[in-house]
Amino acid sequence: MKRVLLIIGGGIAAYKCLDLIRRLRERGIGVRCVMTKAAQAFVTPLAVGAISNERVATELLDLEGEREIGHIRLAREADLVVVAPATADLLARMAQGHADDLATAVLLATRAPCLVAPAMNPAMWGHPATQRNVRQLTRDGVELIGPNAGEMAEAGEAGVGRMAEVAELVERIEAMLARGRGREPGLGFITVASAPPERLPLAGRHVLVTSGPTHEPIDSVRYIANRSSGKQGHAIAEAAARLGARVTLVSGPVQVADPEGVAVQHVETADEMLAAVEAALPADVAVCAAAVADWRVAAAGRGKIKKAAGAAPPTLALVENPDILRALAGRKRGRPALVVGFAAETETVVPHAQAKRTAKGADWIVANDVSEGRGVFGGDRNRVHLVTATEVEAWPDLTKAEVAERLMRRAARWLEDARAHA
Ligand code: C5P
Repeated sequence: MKRVLLIIGGGIAAYKCLDLIRRLRERGIGVRCVMTKAAQAFVTPLAVGAISNERVATELLDLEGEREIGHIRLAREADLVVVAPATADLLARMAQGHADDLATAVLLATRAPCLVAPAMNPAMWGHPATQRNVRQLTRDGVELIGPNAGEMAEAGEAGVGRMAEVAELVERIEAMLARGRGREPGLGFITVASAPPERLPLAGRHVLVTSGPTHEPIDSVRYIANRSSGKQGHAIAEAAARLGARVTLVSGPVQVADPEGVAVQHVETADEMLAAVEAALPADVAVCAAAVADWRVAAAGRGKIKKAAGAAPPTLALVENPDILRALAGRKRGRPALVVGFAAETETVVPHAQAKRTAKGADWIVANDVSEGRGVFGGDRNRVHLVTATEVEAWPDLTKAEVAERLMRRAARWLEDARAHA
């Protein structure tokens, strides 16, 4: 029988562990559990013991427990160690190699492969310290699952931080068990698994994203704007950060919050956006998701233009704004390796996107149909086509977060391929 050692950390997602234990046992997998002190505030050792049908270990220096099965035996007898939910604190202590409680002592003593399912508030997940710890852990060979985007337990909170779902965990655990022991007893910490440990796919990359509308002043109180919400661009920045990239987001005026773990430059006009983009270079990937105003008022009034009784309305002379996507894609020096544009079209979406791709010199265009009734502007869902030099992919109807994740994983693969062929 394969044995999983499940280390339950202290988070609200700990309740999902009861279901996880049941699902694993249904599949003939033995589950022994270690609970941190904080975990016991969320679920009781009694419940975990009853469902796992094993004594639950909670104390490092528990004389009774040490005589029955000491922490070294717990560590040795596992085919796989799973940490779920892994809190920010537990990740930090793992990354540092602490061993001051049973959970961390076992993690340090084990030679079995290790799967970690983080769960925490999105701000904590996005914090550079947590991201640094995660990078360290992946370098150490620890595998990661999640966290997923979605609603949080705290009312009104959403973002990346939800623990992976039980079904996802079961699938991954079975796959890891099938792959066998990564670290054989007696071989120290030499990894003998054939599959390399999962590394964050955008680690070491700089991703630059533009998002939102621009506001082009007419005078000191009025401006030209558009209906872009910034949701798609911000989701892309967030996904890139979660996949390990350093991210610069240049955002026009939007209502959505700054994504966690991302350096955000707030701008108003197309000119300011271009300057901020150029200042952020070099970048490996640039994604121009902003709905930049095509024109600005040639001579914006300084004060408020007055309405005079009987006088004709003012005439606004417009001049063209810089095209940021075209400028980035056309750079002779310092061009990002992958330049991605968006095309919001209302008809013949793909041919227009293909034409736009070549006209602007972009590598990829993400084309979406923004015709009335589709609710793309301001909505949470998007159905896009990815247009590259050689193919057109129709993606299914997805949330903007899913489009973002898929796009950034695609970009990571593209960069890897480019590196392999360099
Ligand atoms: O507005 P248009 O359809 O040309 O936008 C296509 C792409 O070009 C989008 O990715 C948009 O962000 C980018 N763009 C830009 N600067 C502009 C106009 C568009 O970066 N001035």
